[in-house]
Amino acid sequence: MKTLVLFYSMTGKTGKIANEIAVKLNSDIEEIFDKKNRNGIFGHLAAGKDAVLKKFTEIEEVKKDLSQYDLVIIGTPVWAHGMTPAIRTYLSKNKFNKLAFFCTQGHTGEKRTFREMEEMTKQPVAVLSLMKKEIKNNQYQEKVREFCDKLKQQE
Ligand SMILES: Cc1cc2nc3c(=O)[nH]c(=O)nc-3n(C[C@H](O)[C@H](O)[C@H](O)COP(=O)(O)O)c2cc1C
Repeated sequence: MKTLVLFYSMTGKTGKIANEIAVKLNSDIEEIFDKKNRNGIFGHLAAGKDAVLKKFTEIEEVKKDLSQYDLVIIGTPVWAHGMTPAIRTYLSKNKFNKLAFFCTQGHTGEKRTFREMEEMTKQPVAVLSLMKKEIKNNQYQEKVREFCDKLKQQE
């Protein structure tokens, strides 16, 4: 089964997990970049506002061709209890075969995030959510392994 990990990450945590999943599944990986500058306090405030308002954004072109993949794994940080504008934009523009989702978050919001992502696409075959403190303390490997094992069973 050909698998692609696609993710957006502003401060690196979602990216770290995306890379680990890609290594475990021996899959391709690509980062989605938001063209809007979200640096600094004003960038963060605008990010929160855009997420609350469920705004779309401009993203850089994704190079990978989705039609080449049986399974696409989408990763996003949780912003304002939902997905990021970059992921919302990407999901709105594409059709998928099998999907799985993962998110990283401060403490809460994964349920609504996954529900919104599913509403825009289709039911995922697996989901994974991690708290940023689990990532910081290196306490996420077991959950990542379970998630990847579930995805391997899709083959
Ligand atoms: C604008 C903004 C909004 C956020 N909203 C939430 C939230 O609603 N719930 C939560 O648990 N964490 C929230 N967070 C924390 C991030 O989800 C968390 O730090 C995540 O791991 C960051 O991922 P990244 O390093 O890949 O960017 C928010 C962070 C930002 C910058």
